[in-house]
Amino acid sequence: MKTDIILITGASRGLGFSTAEALLKEGYKVIMTGRNLESLKKAAEKLKHQQLLPELLELDVSDIDHIKAAQEFVEKEYGRLDCLINNAGVIVENEYSFETIPRDTIIHTINNNALGPLSMIQNFSSLLAKSQNPRIVNVSSGMGSLTDMGSGTMAYRLSKACLNVISIQAQHELADQKIRTLTVCPGWVKTDMGGANATRELSEGIAGILWAAKTGPEGPSAGFFRDGKPIPW
Ligand SMILES: NC(=O)c1ccc[n+]([C@@H]2O[C@H](COP(=O)([O-])OP(=O)(O)OC[C@H]3O[C@@H](n4cnc5c(N)ncnc54)[C@H](OP(=O)(O)O)[C@@H]3O)[C@@H](O)[C@H]2O)c1
Repeated sequence: MKTDIILITGASRGLGFSTAEALLKEGYKVIMTGRNLESLKKAAEKLKHQQLLPELLELDVSDIDHIKAAQEFVEKEYGRLDCLINNAGVIVENEYSFETIPRDTIIHTINNNALGPLSMIQNFSSLLAKSQNPRIVNVSSGMGSLTDMGSGTMAYRLSKACLNVISIQAQHELADQKIRTLTVCPGWVKTDMGGANATRELSEGIAGILWAAKTGPEGPSAGFFRDGKPIPW
């Protein structure tokens, strides 16, 4: 049994659920969070028969009151957090092109994918600072890389580029508290978001998230990674 406490956002399905399941199997204390408590409970039912018992918490990362309530809960229950995995994310623009995408759709996407993780980091940094091995894992995407920037899905790319900026800022701003910020791209994975044509199975997609979440204090202090190997911002 490991004593590390790991909180993951967007754990009701996809990469978040599978990452939580894998960490629970390894004995970590996992706080699975999701914006819909009923969906989260349904997801947790799939873990029960394996005797995997996560803590469940309603948490919409676009809602600052949810974030503050979650922070208060973790502080009261555990007094610290060892690892924050910012996994929750959306793509809501499939019907739009660069020329037609509405401003509100862009704002919604940035609010969920970038400002959500930022608020999580701001609210949980003091609990992370109480850990012996504090780390933040931001689940970003190569689609947010300026070096590899392509066309299409403009709001999503913009949101992940914003998340990468937030990650680099966190790397610098939180380093004096020994909080390591690791940013990962899972590759193109078969989930509701990735779709059936994606090239990676869930097990391959979560491998790099698990790698980052399990690094020790001697592990990398910062960077953007896929499969545990650095990739360009
Ligand atoms: N799949 C890929 O190919 C791929 C590639 C690169 C990066 N990623 C990133 O990996 C992460 C997980 O993606 P996925 O493929 O597992 O997607 P997914 O299957 O669509 O699952 C997304 C998860 O995020 C949750 N979520 C969305 N908005 C939320 C909010 N405001 N608050 C809390 N939870 C929220 C969803 O909750 P509900 O169930 O309530 O909707 C769901 O649990 C995302 O950040 C995504 O951008 C995915």
